[in-house]
Amino acid sequence: MPPESGAYEIVPYPTRAQSPIHPDRLAALGLLYGLDPCPLDRCRILEIGCGDGGNLIPIAAVLPESRCEGIDASSTAIRRGREYAERCGLRNVALRCVQLPDAAAVTGEFDYILCHGVFSWVPEPVREAILRICCAHLAPKGLAVVSYNALPGGHARRAVREMLRWHVREVAAAAERITEARALAQLVEERMVEQGASARALREELAVARHKEDGHFTTTIWPRPTIRSTCTNSWCAPAGTGCATWPTRT
Ligand SMILES: C[S@@+](CC[C@H](N)C(=O)[O-])C[C@H]1O[C@@H](n2cnc3c(N)ncnc32)[C@H](O)[C@@H]1O
Repeated sequence: MPPESGAYEIVPYPTRAQSPIHPDRLAALGLLYGLDPCPLDRCRILEIGCGDGGNLIPIAAVLPESRCEGIDASSTAIRRGREYAERCGLRNVALRCVQLPDAAAVTGEFDYILCHGVFSWVPEPVREAILRICCAHLAPKGLAVVSYNALPGGHARRAVREMLRWHVREVAAAAERITEARALAQLVEERMVEQGASARALREELAVARHKEDGHFTTTIWPRPTIRSTCTNSWCAPAGTGCATWPTRT
């Protein structure tokens, strides 16, 4: 089996625009919470775990006077993202290969820091590094968003993931792992006879899992997920960092 951190090199992860973490939404939320967010037309944006830039590149395109920086551990994803940005003729976006928790390469100050679909899939030292980057590199009026899976909603998803991971535990080849996992999800979904609420939730998650693009299986069957035992999406910043948080849905 490939090392978990290398899964994104083997199976390309399909990134796309994530409207819930767009800086304009953060700015609107900040205003609603009585903050004074930086104007969007000339701001500095950092995306942690940007993959091949499917979220950051569209942001750079609509905010041409703003500076967008993306970091990700996958060199192949960064290479693809640079090609996309080049083809779009964008000069305000820079994508760099950075493997957290080594965050020494992150410098400067940012008005918006975005991190979507990463926190729940990485080990504790990387999670700590994400929060420390937010705390160390946010401008005084800066806003950061870090999304993660939360309980109780995550129970059904975790059950499906654990089932699929167990099923493919001996399978080494990436393509075969994905095929096998998808086949099991389909089999269980089709054969389930139980009609109760928990069965319905499980069946729904099985359907979601098997219809995922191959790249999304990198999160389903490779990394070991961590799901916070909380009903909200809030997170406490590391002690002494002075970073404030508030619950929000992403
Ligand atoms: C599930 S993908 C999410 C990509 C994108 N943010 C999105 O929501 O579509 C997780 C991303 O985190 C990156 N990643 C995982 N571990 C990392 C680490 N230690 N340092 C930096 N990036 C990491 C992966 O390479 C991958 O691109």
